[in-house]
Amino acid sequence: MITKKKVLLTGGAGYIGAHTAVEFVQQGYDVVLIDDFSKSDDTLLAGIEKIIGSKPVFFKGDCKDRQFLDKLFSEHKFDSVIHFAAYKSVNESVGNPLMYYENNLGSMVALLDTMKKHVVNEIIFSSSCTVYGQPDSIPVDETAPFKRAESPYGATKQMNERILEDEVIANKNLKAISLRYFNPVGAHPSALIGEMPIGVPGNLVPFVTQTAAGLRQKLTVFGSDYNTTDGSCVRDYIHVVDVAQAHVAALEKINDMPGRNEIFNLGTGEGVSVLELVKKFMEVTGVKLNYELGPRRPGDIEKVYADPSKAKRLLGWQTKLKLEDALRDAWRWQQKLG
Ligand SMILES: NC(=O)c1ccc[n+]([C@@H]2O[C@H](COP(=O)([O-])OP(=O)(O)OC[C@H]3O[C@@H](n4cnc5c(N)ncnc54)[C@H](O)[C@@H]3O)[C@@H](O)[C@H]2O)c1
Repeated sequence: MITKKKVLLTGGAGYIGAHTAVEFVQQGYDVVLIDDFSKSDDTLLAGIEKIIGSKPVFFKGDCKDRQFLDKLFSEHKFDSVIHFAAYKSVNESVGNPLMYYENNLGSMVALLDTMKKHVVNEIIFSSSCTVYGQPDSIPVDETAPFKRAESPYGATKQMNERILEDEVIANKNLKAISLRYFNPVGAHPSALIGEMPIGVPGNLVPFVTQTAAGLRQKLTVFGSDYNTTDGSCVRDYIHVVDVAQAHVAALEKINDMPGRNEIFNLGTGEGVSVLELVKKFMEVTGVKLNYELGPRRPGDIEKVYADPSKAKRLLGWQTKLKLEDALRDAWRWQQKLG
């Protein structure tokens, strides 16, 4: 029997970390999760336990805390790290940039330093399509230049990619993959784990499901005069289970990559407008959604969707699930949450 790698997932109690933990465990990997619960609690850990049939190995701690990391890495011989731990709210980052720079950069630096010390040489990083800003042409591929980041959050993703680029040059043993997620949505089909926004959701789908559940009065579609088919913004919505599975594909191929630092888009390749998504939600769930058209929201990009062909070519990964699946799963998860 081939022994699979031992993998550390930072931010493992969060939305994408939890779904990824399930996929790795189901593929036979030995998985350890850490999280400081700054943006989560143990709800998704309980959900993971129900799906995989055993308690996930979990330690509470801050990814910036070198003592915590050092002890953890001394006690566990990791082969690889998947780095999710970060703050992710664009709005919050505009109001509190230092908090974002400290956490999102500090955790990466402490982690890479600890990995070097303990000779752990494989890292997969959660990046974002936000690094592109409004690209000059779409679908956007990985060679598109960075635009000035629209927010401190976006800047931390660009800087983290730069940190990896530099560290791979300095540390000849390190191999890195950055996955630029487009818009992860949906929940696990079991409805045992899903997205748990704190306060008013900044992302569209949780706002939609909360409105449908009666927790919010009305959904406002920000902008109806963009240069798109129906005037609302266009995004590339990708099922979170597809995102999770891409991490497994990336780790399986990390040693076959042409470079020691590779970047991949994770998207469907299809642009969907906000209004199309809203209509599809009503169609799939049969729930009527109270929504209105509002003004544009500052900082929003008009239109962006991925060219995901590099991931298909080099990772053998492509999306399997549809937006309909994601909306149905998100709604089932919301109904469970109440
Ligand atoms: N969800 C998206 O739409 C999206 C899109 C692009 C990129 N990303 C990136 O993917 C990653 C995961 O996102 P998510 O949606 O699962 O977010 P999330 O907030 O649900 O999960 C992140 C987890 O990291 C934890 N965390 C934050 N700082 C930490 C620290 N210093 N030490 C330990 N734990 C810490 C939080 O408590 C949380 O549980 C993030 O890096 C995010 O920026 C997310």
